Amino acid sequence: MSASGLILAIETSCDETAVAIVERGRRILSNAVASQIAVHAPHGGVVPDLAARHHLQNLLPTLAEAEHQAGVKATECDAIAVTKGPGLIGCLLLGVEMAKTLAAIHGKPLIAVNHLAAHLYSPILENAHSNGGNGSFTFPHLGLLISGGHSELVICHGPLAWEPLGQTLDDAVGEAYDKVAKLLGLGYPGGPVIDKRAPEGDPTAFAFPRPMLGRDDDNFSFSGLKTAVRLAVEKTLDPSQRINASTNQRINDLCASFQAAVIDTLLGKAERALRRHRLQRLAICGGVAANRGLRVAAAERLPGVEIAIPPMALCTDNAAMIGGLAWHQLEAGDIASLDCAPAPNWPLPNSSATR
Ligand code: KG4
Ligand code: ZN
Repeated sequence: MSASGLILAIETSCDETAVAIVERGRRILSNAVASQIAVHAPHGGVVPDLAARHHLQNLLPTLAEAEHQAGVKATECDAIAVTKGPGLIGCLLLGVEMAKTLAAIHGKPLIAVNHLAAHLYSPILENAHSNGGNGSFTFPHLGLLISGGHSELVICHGPLAWEPLGQTLDDAVGEAYDKVAKLLGLGYPGGPVIDKRAPEGDPTAFAFPRPMLGRDDDNFSFSGLKTAVRLAVEKTLDPSQRINASTNQRINDLCASFQAAVIDTLLGKAERALRRHRLQRLAICGGVAANRGLRVAAAERLPGVEIAIPPMALCTDNAAMIGGLAWHQLEAGDIASLDCAPAPNWPLPNSSATR
């Protein structure tokens, strides 16, 4: 069906404007990202209107960069893919309208991609190596999707076949990182800075809860952990106090203890699901999969499990994962109509029944 096997993909669901060109669902020819971290950092989180305005500014230059990096023009691609949801409505709209315009003027099929399914696909991309050694991670496997908006455990039976097992009942794990960093005055986004400070602190200094770990299901909850950190901060840190060596150490201990609780919870839940569903492969994806502490702990604590964690650039939001998954949709004839609209609350489909 495919002529060149190339897909041009656009991602604008949150605060990254991203365009990529991917060949046959695996080989990344370009992966251009215009990050808005500096725009939102002063606000302590993503401001939806600001994000939409910056997508508007960044989309055409990012498209040009992706075409330049790949040495390929949109006209040479077999299809135009775009994130249809979930995400921020104003942001999604810009990507979807851009993709529809490109599809219409170049006469290409439009592929509407689910952002969560695309994160789950990211370990399958060519340069996302697993600890199995050969770099060709495969199905079926357990997917642990951990990002700023989502925390989900899913059995991935194939690129387009998902069996969701559980999700967060309140805050997503990345959201907990961002809120804890804000409490500690560490800025936004919280994940990278807490991850950097954690090795300098004592992970046993504060006995934070391991939420839902004792429960016999696959759901998560991170808002109680965030509250436990807030109470500890109120007890042990005086916000009016200037940062000195001793408060700095206490902040590092809080980071280390929080991160230890998150890692124990995520890996404990994943281990239980792997055992229960007799799976030997685990893919960890989404922005929080960039966490260095988690990467090390996963390999140490799950011996005998083949673990795939994409490189940092494929953990956080990117369009390569959209273009990779879209190729399978194109092959399956899943073409969107040119009047398709964004779906800000689109959940991960449960396709296990149709397998
Ligand atoms: O996947 P992503 O880029 O966007 C969403 O779809 O949500 O994830 C962003 C989240 C933020 O909450 C950020 O704090 C977190 O990923 N993050 C990390 C790290 N790098 C980014 N969390 C923990 N450790 C990191 N190294
Ligand atoms: Zn994402």
